[in-house]
Amino acid sequence: MLPEASTSAQIIDVAFFRILAIEMVLLIAVTSAMVFFVLKYRRKKNVVPENIEGNVLLEIIWTIIPTLLVLIIFYIGWTGFSGVRATPLKAMVIKVIARQWVWQFSYDNGKQSDILRIPVNRPVKLRLNSQDVIHGFYIPAFRIKEDCVPNMGTYLSFTANMPGTYDIFCTEYCGHGHSGMVSKVEVMTDKDFDAWYSAVTDEERKLEMQTGEKILEAYNCLDCHTTDGKTMDGPTFKGLYGSRVTVTTKGKERTILADEDYLRRSIVDPKADIVKGYSDIMPLIPVKPEELETIVAYIRALR
Ligand code: CUA
Repeated sequence: MLPEASTSAQIIDVAFFRILAIEMVLLIAVTSAMVFFVLKYRRKKNVVPENIEGNVLLEIIWTIIPTLLVLIIFYIGWTGFSGVRATPLKAMVIKVIARQWVWQFSYDNGKQSDILRIPVNRPVKLRLNSQDVIHGFYIPAFRIKEDCVPNMGTYLSFTANMPGTYDIFCTEYCGHGHSGMVSKVEVMTDKDFDAWYSAVTDEERKLEMQTGEKILEAYNCLDCHTTDGKTMDGPTFKGLYGSRVTVTTKGKERTILADEDYLRRSIVDPKADIVKGYSDIMPLIPVKPEELETIVAYIRALR
């Protein structure tokens, strides 16, 4: 049998096997009764058929017993379903984007991955969406499945409880690449996950630097500031972060640490601190908040 690699898997399997047990008992009871009556009332022994008028007690019994059975099955299904759909408050949210014919996972810190990496024993909530047609997100080892529908947010929540790698399938026919729309979920120990989650890959660093440079060029920052240590109308960005700079603030000279706050302030309020040896000529740059952060990260990386 497939491993029960999530808390949902245990809930689903318990519900499944309870209902299966009830069905097995019913199957045996109904089949035995049928075989018994076939033999008992066979034609050879009952040449003249007997006319049975009906039996009120029997009618009541065979109405009440199936009703109870159906209610028991409903109860098992309902409690199991609620257990699987309830999301713990502290669940880690991961966005799942389905598109012909790949899965993409994005995390709160901007990390992206084409395989789903999650920590063991920590509740996870997947927010599912599709960019084109309907796809079905399915992890058999977790016993979870949900459709990804364009412009309609769906979700899945679960807690993986066994480190390992398991299959992800698409279960909704979505075009000729459907059968190849597979991925993996990697359940990692807390330590491994945190290390992966906070690590910046070379690829990500390169991308951030390219974006940073583009923004600086777009606002003509590089007309006055260099990134290689040379001096122009403004101080160079190279080695700026973490250095101590002498500035004039409200007419008073002081030496401060060039930390992230200093960088942000110098961009959004260029008149606040004027670096010694430079004139007060920097204009106000209309950077957007996310651009500001990219610029700060870029300058920080030029240490
Ligand atoms: Cu996506 Cu099938």
